[in-house]
Order: sequence, then structure tokens, then C-alpha cells
Amino acid sequence: MIQIAPSMLAADFLHLEKDVRMVNEHADLFHLDIMDGVFVPNLSYGFPIVEAIAKIATRPLDTHLMIVEPEKYVDRFIKAGSAMVSFHVNATKDPDAVLTQIRNGGARAGLVINPDLPVESLFPYLKNCDFVMLMSVFAGFGGQKFIEETYDRVRALKAEIIAQGLDIPIEVDGGVSASNAAALVQAGAEILVAGSAVFKAEDPSAVIAAMRG
Ligand code: DX5
Ligand code: ZN
Repeated sequence: MIQIAPSMLAADFLHLEKDVRMVNEHADLFHLDIMDGVFVPNLSYGFPIVEAIAKIATRPLDTHLMIVEPEKYVDRFIKAGSAMVSFHVNATKDPDAVLTQIRNGGARAGLVINPDLPVESLFPYLKNCDFVMLMSVFAGFGGQKFIEETYDRVRALKAEIIAQGLDIPIEVDGGVSASNAAALVQAGAEILVAGSAVFKAEDPSAVIAAMRG
């Protein structure tokens, strides 16, 4: 089953409730981008926004941590309402420990890599992941252009997941739209994040429907 995860980074923060209700009605997950200005050269939002969304969300919160030392904050993001928490493999010394920490907190644990890290860098950790995420742009900003090499990376990662006898979904994040969704799903992706494509559209629900194919 394909899941569509609108990135709230592209939502209208002056009318956040309207956009949260749109996701409740038409999408599957809330993708929440947390940036610290250190791991990525940008800042986004933190606990107050996550908690506000959690109050009326009827879909699970998928929190993407673009921060150094995620182990310091994962418990609070779970407490704030995150059902899924992902972090970048090179943001911490001991990814396995952080995956376990997330699972022990009662959330699903995910590992992420930017486009410049080989997919092989995820392989040793797959058995401790509930999902994995490939960035199809460099983490840090919404509205960037989709990197075409992502299709091959999804295929390679999917093959390794199968080879390891695992059954974990691949999420793809960055520049995803109705024009590349079908090809990503064909390559093996199951969770599609889309910020600009959804929220900058005239009719967000129509874009979500188109992405489902
Ligand atoms: C980038 C974020 C993405 C971003 C996606 O650092 O992780 O989730 O918000 O936005 P679009 O779909 O506009 O590329
Ligand atoms: Zn993201």
C-alpha cells in the first residue's frame, strides 16, 4: 500500500489547522521536518508546532530529524506525538542505539541518508529499522529539484532489504510530485513525501490522488 506523507514545511502556518485537516482527510501521514542549523544549514520548527499538529491529527506523525545527536531529542518528539521518528545515519555515533531508543519509546524507527551517501551505508542497520528513507534532494530545504539517480538507489536498497529477508518500507523525500510518483513506486518506494507539490497546488487533494496513481 502506497502512503502519501505531505511535508508540513510547505504548509500555510497562518492557517495550519486548515492544512492539517486536509491531510487528515486525504493523505496518510504527516511528515514533520526538524532542522537544527547544524546538521543542515537551515532551521524549521520544533516541539510547539509538533504538539499543535498532534492535537488534531488523525494520521500518524512521521518526524524527520535533521539534527546532530538525535538521541538527545527523540524521546521528546515521541512524547509530542510522533509515531515514526527518523534520523540521518551520520548524525550520531551509534545509529543502532538510537533505533533501539526510538523503538523502546514506542515509535517506529527509521534511518535516512542524503544523496551523497551510498545506499550501502544503511545496510548494517536495516535489521533494526522499521522503515528507511532516501533523500531525493539534499536535506535542508523544501522546493528543490528531484535527483534522478534516486530511482537506482531505491532499486538497490529494495534488493538488499529482500536479500536480508526483511520487509520494511522505503520512504522517498524531496522533489516528489505526481510526475515522478509512479516511477518511484515502480522502483520499490512505498512512502512518498511531498511538500511543495501538495501545498503549493491549487487543489492539494487532487495532487495526492494523482500521486496514488
Ligand atoms: C527537505 C525536507 C523535505 C522537504 C520536502 O530537507 O526533508 O521533507 O520538506 O519538500 P519538497 O516536497 O518541496 O521537496
Ligand atoms: Zn523530510
